Amino acid sequence: MDEPQDCYRTLAQGRHSVRAFLPRTVPEEWIARMLEQARLAPSGANLQPGHFWQITGKARAALTTALSHAWEAGEPAREDYAYFPAPMPMHLRKRQVAAAQALYTSLGVARGDAAGRQRQFARNFTFFEAPVALVVTLERGFGGGGFMDLGLCLHALMLAAQARGLASCAIGALASYPDVVREVLQLPRSELVVCGMALGWPDPQAPVNGARTPRLPWPTISRYLSDERWLIGGGSTCRMSPLPEQVRHLGHPLFLQRGEQPHLAPAGL
Ligand SMILES: Cc1cc2nc3c(=O)[nH]c(=O)nc-3n(C[C@H](O)[C@H](O)[C@H](O)COP(=O)(O)O)c2cc1C
Repeated sequence: MDEPQDCYRTLAQGRHSVRAFLPRTVPEEWIARMLEQARLAPSGANLQPGHFWQITGKARAALTTALSHAWEAGEPAREDYAYFPAPMPMHLRKRQVAAAQALYTSLGVARGDAAGRQRQFARNFTFFEAPVALVVTLERGFGGGGFMDLGLCLHALMLAAQARGLASCAIGALASYPDVVREVLQLPRSELVVCGMALGWPDPQAPVNGARTPRLPWPTISRYLSDERWLIGGGSTCRMSPLPEQVRHLGHPLFLQRGEQPHLAPAGL
C-alpha cells in the first residue's frame, strides 16, 4: 500500500496534458463521479462557483463547426476575461515559447511551419476528438477569486480522471469566442465562458502525447520569511534570514545573505 503522499505524487506527476485519445467511451457514471469528486475542492465562502457543461452529439458538432469557422475567418478573439498579461513580460514569454516548443517538437512541426501550427491549433475546437467534451463557465460578476476557485476544481477534476486511468487537457482556446459558445449551446448571457476540457483514454501511440513541460524548481517560487526578515519599500528590497536547518540541505539558490537583493523574476525562467 502506497503512503498517502505517494498517492498524490503519483497522480500529480502522472498527469500531463493529453491531446490525442483512443476512440473508447467513458462511462457516463464515471463522468458524474469525477465531477462529484472535483466538487470537493474548496472555495472562498464555499460559494462553489462554476458549471461544467457536457457537450455531446449535434450540439458538440455544431460548436466545433461554429468555432472553427470563426477562427478560420480570422475573427478577432473576444474573451470574456483576460487570461494573460498584455503585454507579456519577457520572463513569462520565454515560458510560453518553451511550452509551445515542447508541443510542436513532439509533433515534428518545425518552428517556421505556420500551417502545421495552425493545424494543431484548430484541434482545440474539436476537443482533440476526445470522447468527453466539457465547457466550463462561471457566473458573471465573480472577480479573480471565482476563477481561482474554479481552477482548484479543474485540477481536482484532472486528478480524478487521472486516478481512473483517463487523461485530460484544458482548452483555453475555447474561450476565444464566448458569444459563439453561448449562442450555439444556448447558454445564458450570465455565464462567462472560462475554458473547455477534453477527457478520455490517452492514445499511447500518439506522438503529441509525448510532449512534456518542465516546472520551475521550487526555490524559484518559494520564499521563506522569518522574524529576522525586514521588508523595506513595499517588498522590493529585503533582507532574509538563513534557511531553516530542516530544509537547508535541499538548497535554495534564491535564499539571500543579509543585505543581498532578491531577484523576484529570475532571468531565463
Ligand atoms: C486553463 C488552461 C487552459 C489551457 N488551454 C490550452 C489550449 O487551449 N490548448 C492546448 O493545447 N493546451 C492548453 N492548456 C494546456 C497547457 O498548455 C499545459 O497545461 C501546460 O503547458 C503545462 O503542461 P502539462 O499540462 O502537460 O503539465 C491549457 C491549460 C490550462 C490549465
